[in-house]
Amino acid sequence: MRLVMGVIVAAGLGGAALAGVPDIHSYARPDQVRVVHMELDLDIRFDRKVLEGSVVLQIERAATGDGTLHPLRLDTRDLSIGKVTAGSAGSMKETSFKMGPRDPVLGSELVIDLPAGADRVAIEYRTSPEASGLQWVDPEQTAGGKQPFLYSQSQAIHARTWIPCQDSPGVRVTWKANVRVGAPLKAVMAARRVESPEKPGQYSFDMPHPIPVYLIAIAAGDLVFGATGSRTGVWTEPSLLSAAVSEFADMEKMLEAAEKTYGPYRWGRYDVLVLPPSFPYGGMENPMLTFATPTILAGDRSLVSLVAHEMAHSWSGNLVTNATWSDFWLNEGFTTYIERRMMETVFGRGRSEMEWMLGRQDLDKELIELADKPGDQALHIDLTGRDPEDGSTDVPYEKGALLLRLLEEKYGREKFDTFLRAWFDEHAFTSVTTRQFVDFLGMRLMAAGGGNPELTEWLDKPGVPASAPVAKSDALARVDAQVALWVTGSTKASDLATTGWTFHEWLHFLRALPAKVSVEQMAELDAAFGFTKTGNSEILNEWLVLGIRHEYRVTDKRLEEFLTNVGRRKYLRPLYQELVKTEAGKAKAMVIYKRARPLYQAIARKSIDEIVGWP
Ligand code: BES
Ligand code: ZN
Repeated sequence: MRLVMGVIVAAGLGGAALAGVPDIHSYARPDQVRVVHMELDLDIRFDRKVLEGSVVLQIERAATGDGTLHPLRLDTRDLSIGKVTAGSAGSMKETSFKMGPRDPVLGSELVIDLPAGADRVAIEYRTSPEASGLQWVDPEQTAGGKQPFLYSQSQAIHARTWIPCQDSPGVRVTWKANVRVGAPLKAVMAARRVESPEKPGQYSFDMPHPIPVYLIAIAAGDLVFGATGSRTGVWTEPSLLSAAVSEFADMEKMLEAAEKTYGPYRWGRYDVLVLPPSFPYGGMENPMLTFATPTILAGDRSLVSLVAHEMAHSWSGNLVTNATWSDFWLNEGFTTYIERRMMETVFGRGRSEMEWMLGRQDLDKELIELADKPGDQALHIDLTGRDPEDGSTDVPYEKGALLLRLLEEKYGREKFDTFLRAWFDEHAFTSVTTRQFVDFLGMRLMAAGGGNPELTEWLDKPGVPASAPVAKSDALARVDAQVALWVTGSTKASDLATTGWTFHEWLHFLRALPAKVSVEQMAELDAAFGFTKTGNSEILNEWLVLGIRHEYRVTDKRLEEFLTNVGRRKYLRPLYQELVKTEAGKAKAMVIYKRARPLYQAIARKSIDEIVGWP
């Protein structure tokens, strides 16, 4: 390509040089004008709960063919836009722009007029305190209790609530940032840290690889760092640091496990930021700096598959990205599969098979909940007119992972590993569609990828095909045997053979209990195994659901405490769903939610509003 007066002209291709995959969740037209680099300059204002500053966008432009000029179309939601200038470095001039009407999901289109020759646009702007992509946490909701905390969550389409940008996973940018925050708070971003000691209170970052904007992330708080290896470490509040360092001690090994099979880790460092408990997800794979819930700090490393998962996204998701949210399974299914492979390498097949089985249970439960939405049971899903997060069910994760495991078993591990490695290498730093994967599969592994009826069944049809692989776990079979002994009344809970059980066995135990359990039986289990007091958030979550279902009042206090502290959507949803099944439970849910709602992040709030019917 050559640059003529700021207009990209690809030899012989005309405007087609910028062609991208159309994305129904973005106003951007990257086929006309494409943002390729961004420079942020932001003040973090805890006093007003806003980010304030500017972004400079570097653009590439396609010719229209008729001498007119394409405007730059950006995504925004709840942003206040100040002055907008355009031009080239050193000669920027104010330009006109207009804001479209606000769509509740997509936000408002920002259309900026571009003069001939302009290759950059600078936008002064400020976020809203209600920005759905930012959470301003009061000191009381932090571990230390003294300082406030800020974190972002941009996936799927919340980056537009804190940066005017082309918020489509098919568009990739490199970026830099200068951010300022008042002492003693520190700022971190998902990028390389650039030292700027001459400017106290200013933090600088650089992401030299092109990434989709849903991976741009920021946080600020009373943060400290601890190393877990030469390339890995954790950031968190001081009181959680030693727990976090010991919980994540295996990170370096996990990284090496992934590299061995899928090629070098291309991002430099891999750190985890442990956030306050309101964080709506378990983890978010922001490049170089995974954002994580503190509920994974179980004390016994039992929940580190979550770290393996976010780390695996360094290949599937961040290196090779779903081009649209309908292709989300290319991110999450691949990642779940790689996560299990990493767990097998580091902790053995016994553990990974248990995780596959527990994952299949999640999937089967989800499919029952999606009984009246067959379209959402397909891997490649139709999101027309919907929030992209509607597609974020267990289907893309577990059904997607099962498809890859099927291919592995069909073609053999060695061949399949080579295939996946080539997929990553040959599509590195690009965004891809399901179609592209099917074509690649057809070319490299499977005869007639696209026309293969089995593949069509997985990608476009509801349910799990009969060809799905089945995990085998002797350990979990032994758990079933113990449950049977207890259910028939032949063995008391305290006499069951549970010695040496790990978290996975306990989780399976709770899931294998019969549909009806009496209050006395709940009390017997609790007395024998201390579930109400457990420090493992997964076990506690499962147990609290049972407590509500079987009206075991002993869990009430812990339930209320959990719901008013933890904002992880995966936990909140089943608990509120269980509560609203009865009239009394519904009333209780409303009382708790009224108190808890302000503490939840916007994304979690939206899910729970729907469940409890919040006015
Ligand atoms: N990328 C997802 C989180 C996500 C998905 C955020 C969709 C926004 C929209 C992340 O990698 C993830 O899957 N997290 C899981 C944990 C994982 C172990 C399954 C979570 O948060 O529960
Ligand atoms: Zn994921």
